[in-house]
Amino acid sequence: MLFKKSPEKFWDLIASKYAASPIQDRTAYETKIRKLKTYLTTDKVVLDIGCGTGTQCGDIADNVKQVIGIDISRKLLAIAQQRKEARQQDNIDFLQTSLFDERLASASFDVVMAFYVLHFFEDINVVFNRVHDLLKPDGFFISETVCLADKNKITGKLLRFAGHLGLLPRMNLLTTQQLEQALQNSGFSIVEKIKFSHRPDSEFTLIAKKMKDKCGLSK
Ligand SMILES: C[S@@+](CC[C@H](N)C(=O)[O-])C[C@H]1O[C@@H](n2cnc3c(N)ncnc32)[C@H](O)[C@@H]1O
Repeated sequence: MLFKKSPEKFWDLIASKYAASPIQDRTAYETKIRKLKTYLTTDKVVLDIGCGTGTQCGDIADNVKQVIGIDISRKLLAIAQQRKEARQQDNIDFLQTSLFDERLASASFDVVMAFYVLHFFEDINVVFNRVHDLLKPDGFFISETVCLADKNKITGKLLRFAGHLGLLPRMNLLTTQQLEQALQNSGFSIVEKIKFSHRPDSEFTLIAKKMKDKCGLSK
């Protein structure tokens, strides 16, 4: 099966296996969730882009007013929904949709999260502009992204080639520096840059604050 035009089929295919795989560094993950919670209060509305099985949504839901998790995979979202129901977390809504869905209104989120998904978008500049638009003034964008170009260039090129052939979803070869620059170009200021895990394959968590828009006016 080729996934070039329909990456959701890849995620549907591996959904059960993905859901069963344990978090690789649980201590680092728990420290990250504690850090996330310092940006959250019970009046906040949060969007999780590429929420998968809803792990992070579930782990912050009790600290916020509402969480909306969006993803392209119907099967991953079905697992997320089951987990939400088991935890009786009525303030989470999962939508199988794109970041550009018009139901997601401008300036309606206090925090947007994106964990391990941004490298699957063709153009991160377009994504960051959209996130900027979705956030309320002074909102925060918290992301962790696979930056293959920072690490093993050969593996990165192979994965990108596999994406080009359609054997895997298409992936962008990003560096952390590119991400930081693109965030700044889209009107964000990076307030924290943290590596929670010491594992060699770990990524930075970037916490960026929405600044005034490019015309100098507060949105
Ligand atoms: C590596 S998983 C990460 C899942 C989750 N954020 C986590 O950290 O456990 C990548 C997720 O992004 C989703 N995804 C891929 N491309 C997407 C897109 N264009 N829009 C929304 N979700 C996407 C996949 O379906 C999958 O659930």
